[in-house]
Amino acid sequence: MLARLLVPFSFLALLLLPCLALAAPNEPTDAALVRHGREVVVRAQCNRCHEITGGLGAFKREMHCVNCHTWILGTKGKPDEIAKQRVDFPDWDRYLDSVVHFTRLPDLGTLTRRVRPSAVRRFLDAPHDVRPHLEESMIPLRLSGADKDAVVAWLASLAGPQVAPEEPAPAPESVDAARIAAGRTVFVAKGCPTCHVFGNVRFQPGFDAAFYKAMGANAQLAPNLRFARERVPRSVFVRFVQDPQSVDPRVTMPKLGVTPAEAERLADFVYAAAPELAGPPAAAEVPVVAALDRKVTFDEVYDELLGKICVHCHMDPATNNGDGGAGNTGGLGFAGKRLSLESYPSVARGLMRDGKRVSILTPGPGGQPPLLLEALLRRHREASRDQRRAFADHAGEGIAVDAAAPGMPLGLPALSLAQLRLVKTWLDQGAPGPAE
Ligand code: HEC
Ligand code: HEC
Ligand code: HEC
Ligand code: HEC
Repeated sequence: MLARLLVPFSFLALLLLPCLALAAPNEPTDAALVRHGREVVVRAQCNRCHEITGGLGAFKREMHCVNCHTWILGTKGKPDEIAKQRVDFPDWDRYLDSVVHFTRLPDLGTLTRRVRPSAVRRFLDAPHDVRPHLEESMIPLRLSGADKDAVVAWLASLAGPQVAPEEPAPAPESVDAARIAAGRTVFVAKGCPTCHVFGNVRFQPGFDAAFYKAMGANAQLAPNLRFARERVPRSVFVRFVQDPQSVDPRVTMPKLGVTPAEAERLADFVYAAAPELAGPPAAAEVPVVAALDRKVTFDEVYDELLGKICVHCHMDPATNNGDGGAGNTGGLGFAGKRLSLESYPSVARGLMRDGKRVSILTPGPGGQPPLLLEALLRRHREASRDQRRAFADHAGEGIAVDAAAPGMPLGLPALSLAQLRLVKTWLDQGAPGPAE
């Protein structure tokens, strides 16, 4: 079904695709490092998800996770557009309901005007959930330390002289309780908690996860401000909260009429208040998956997850312009595992390891669950780092995401227990093919 959408795109492509446009970055101090950084970003396809304003044009829409999704959703409420698309894509109306993820991500081109390059560098080593209202996660990177250094040097070069300075964060003890309390009052009065959480601090009743979900696009990109002290230099914070676009023209945070004095109080609060974190997570949070006591068919597994979530990175290249997605023919910095999940025969063929086909449907040699289930459980383990829900923030790093063996679905929330039970049951029943 994705194939049907993608094939006509090759024609559209000629008309619509913005190419990989090149823009000259500001003159770097270490030109070779910066040039190398840009090459790494191109190779790892960062611009297949992110905008990189001023640095690199977006990937063509037929391959860009966000731009294709927003194009589809952009036809909502436009009956003429919808009727036009239905001609080529009979399922267009379903797409309008089913697409929810990858609709907006932070712009990397202007990021280092606000966030210290050293903080971006640490993030690339250990990506974690900065934005609790955004369900998608930054993917683990298979890059060497030198490559990551180069990427950050390139991103910093895009900010030029406006790059966030590496000034040390003020010690929290340097701010007294009265100033923190005054800052908190401004924080609430200016409506900051309508978009931002600050650790687990509860500002007002009713500001819960459902509230932030209802805020939708407005709040989705708003970072958890408990990380601001590590990310944003205080001097930049003070300018930013008075006039966000003067620091980073790409942010959607509104100008809220914050005076210079109020900006200082806000900084006192954000840089010195206790974020009321929970203790570090215990061991891996992997659910116990019990089988259902009924028959489960391949079609059900396909409709509930493989065809819905997984095929976007595990496609059949023959019907998708040669692109099998990151998990099959490679992309997003991964070489690919030659694993297509688009049909029963391809699922049964498994993946390629050391030149040999390996089943994802049969238990591993040590009795581990079949790779199909194992990869999904791994994503649950990663959730303590990648998926911190509002007011479930904790101290410590959480379970690291292992770039050598990332959980599935990559970059997306772990599957529900109901979906896992379906997979487990189908596997236990011998993973039968679709009934003819
Ligand atoms: C599959 C989509 C995807 C790809 C590909 C991707 N990212 Fe991300 N990235 C995300 C998401 C989602 C977030 C937001 C995570 C959050 O804030 O909670 C993110 C966040 C980031 C951030 C943190 C932004 C901030 O506010 O500090 C940086 C830096 C970043 N990505 C760099 C990169 C680089 C460099 C590459 C390429 C090597 C890349 N990303 C590729 C999805 C992606
Ligand atoms: C050519 C357009 C296009 C591109 C490019 C694209 N998608 Fe999608 N995506 C769709 C459509 C259409 C659907 C809905 C499919 C359906 O209802 O059967 C969808 C649905 C999804 C879903 C399930 C619904 C949801 O929002 O959770 C995921 C996950 C997804 N896409 C991930 C990705 C990722 C990751 C990329 C980039 C590697 C990507 N997509 C690129 C068109 C696209
Ligand atoms: C309507 C929603 C909204 C409101 C209200 C709002 N912000 Fe923001 N804020 C955002 C968004 C969206 C971003 C950044 C998006 C991005 O990364 O592109 C942001 C970014 C920030 C950042 C940068 C943090 C970082 O780690 O990168 C700070 C600091 C900040 N806001 C402080 C505040 C303060 C203080 C207030 C109240 C005066 C406030 N915001 C009110 C939406 C909002
Ligand atoms: C955003 C892209 C993306 C999505 C979505 C995605 N995958 Fe993957 N998948 C990959 C990549 C990339 C690899 C290769 C990882 C590697 O090289 O270790 C992979 C590898 C795998 C593997 C092999 C794991 C191993 O240990 O060798 C399995 C199994 C798998 N995916 C299943 C799934 C399932 C099931 C889903 C849907 C629930 C899914 N994937 C969704 C990108 C994705």
